[in-house]
Amino acid sequence: MYKLEEIQQNFKIIRTGDNVLDVGAAPGSWTLYTHRMLLKGNGTIIAVDLNPLNLNPVPPTVTAYVGDAFSKEIREKLVEHGPYDAIISDAAPMTTGNRSVDTSRSEWLAEQVVYLASEHLKPHGNLVLKIYQGGGQETVLKQMRSLFAKARAFKPKACRSDSFEVYLIGLDRNP
Ligand SMILES: C[S@@+](CC[C@H](N)C(=O)[O-])C[C@H]1O[C@@H](n2cnc3c(N)ncnc32)[C@H](O)[C@@H]1O
Repeated sequence: MYKLEEIQQNFKIIRTGDNVLDVGAAPGSWTLYTHRMLLKGNGTIIAVDLNPLNLNPVPPTVTAYVGDAFSKEIREKLVEHGPYDAIISDAAPMTTGNRSVDTSRSEWLAEQVVYLASEHLKPHGNLVLKIYQGGGQETVLKQMRSLFAKARAFKPKACRSDSFEVYLIGLDRNP
C-alpha cells in the first residue's frame, strides 16, 4: 500500500475539492494518487520539485513548478495559488550515506516546510512532512504543536523496515 494512502486512511488529510500543495512531488506518484483517489478530479494541486514530474499527461487539476520550493521565485507562485487546505511534503535531501549529514539536511527541509505551512496553510488545514529519524524530529514536532491542534509522528507500514524515514502529521491548523 502507498505511504500516502496509509496516512490518508489514518488521518483524513485531504478532502475532495481541496487546494493541495505537494512539495518534493517528482516523479509524481503522490500527485497522481491525490488527483485520482482523493480529489477525484475535483480540486487543485500545486506540485513543486527540483525535478520535473514524470506524468504524461499531467492531470488537469495539477499545476507543476520546477525549482527549489523555498526560493523567492517559487514562493511567489505559491502565494498566487494559495492558501492551501493541505500541504503534503515527501521532500528529501540527496543522501550522502553519512547519517548525520543526511539527518541534518532532512531536519532543515522539514523546518522549511513547517515555515511554508505557517505562511500558506488555511486555518484548520493539515500538513504531512517527511523527516529522517534522528533528524531533529522532536524539535520539528514541537514547532508543529504550536501551529496545529494536534501533531504526531507516524511510520507507515509501507516504509521499508530498514528505512529511517518517518512522517510528521499536523492536523487542524490553529486559526
Ligand atoms: C522521495 S522523492 C518524492 C517522491 C514523490 N512524493 C512521489 O510520490 O513521486 C523526494 C523529492 O524531494 C525533492 N526535493 C528535495 N529538496 C527539494 C527542494 N528544496 N525543493 C523542491 N523539491 C525538493 C527531490 O527533488 C525529490 O524529487
